[in-house]
Amino acid sequence: MNKLIVIGLSTIALSSPSSAQHGDIARGQRDFRMCAPCHSLEADRNMTGPSLAGLWDRKSGSLQSFERYSDALKSSGIIWDDRSLDAWLSDPDSMVPDNEMPFNGIKDPQRRADLLAFLREATKPGAAPQMSAQGQMGDMGGMMGGMMGGGRVPKLKSLESNMQVKAITYCHDTYRVTTADGKTRAFWERNLRLKTDSGKDGPHTGAPAIVPAGMMGDRADVIFAAPEEISKMIEARC
Ligand code: HEC
Repeated sequence: MNKLIVIGLSTIALSSPSSAQHGDIARGQRDFRMCAPCHSLEADRNMTGPSLAGLWDRKSGSLQSFERYSDALKSSGIIWDDRSLDAWLSDPDSMVPDNEMPFNGIKDPQRRADLLAFLREATKPGAAPQMSAQGQMGDMGGMMGGMMGGGRVPKLKSLESNMQVKAITYCHDTYRVTTADGKTRAFWERNLRLKTDSGKDGPHTGAPAIVPAGMMGDRADVIFAAPEEISKMIEARC
């Protein structure tokens, strides 16, 4: 009996990589846009979700630099490979109940195979330079991601003057943001979001950046290097 089960499993294990190899990498790369607002392919570049660099053979919930794993994922004991990733992407909640990935899954097996074919290459050590080139090319996609509230924020350490925040005043319900090009823009207080990015893509200390948000042009994010800079920068003045 035991022997039969073992044979059964190894057949699946053997057939699974080859069937996944039928995935179409180019189609998979396009579908990765679903994931890119939350996951980068650069080592330790974490966003809403952990970096996927070096994913194959990694234990679930184990990337040291990612601090927001759910207990459910950390304790699930999964090793990421063709088979486990196929199950995860098909229905994350049934594979790991109480996980915190806000994604419903991909029902079409062919699309999962395409995505895995792409990810298998793109997550290999050393694949990152090529993929960041794709990131540049995909900056439009990144902007779309930004508009949807996630996504790639431009690197904030070298900025055009119209993105360098010099002063912020607050009066009644209005913030006025002055940038290094001398312009001042007014925002309804609910349309200006104040954020921090202490990572390597974030701004220099004391040099916050303003980044457009949303599609209507009436919203923006001001991104600081650290939370204590926020109230220091904002001057209540009419
Ligand atoms: C809206 C954000 C979001 C989207 C979209 C998203 N993920 Fe995730 N993903 C997360 C979060 C958050 C976690 C951590 C979940 C937890 O700890 O329970 C995660 C975890 C993972 C993990 C486990 C990684 C590890 O280190 O154990 C994999 C693999 C993964 N996601 C792949 C994908 C793929 C592939 C897609 C696109 C089809 C995708 N995700 C879409 C946010 C997202």
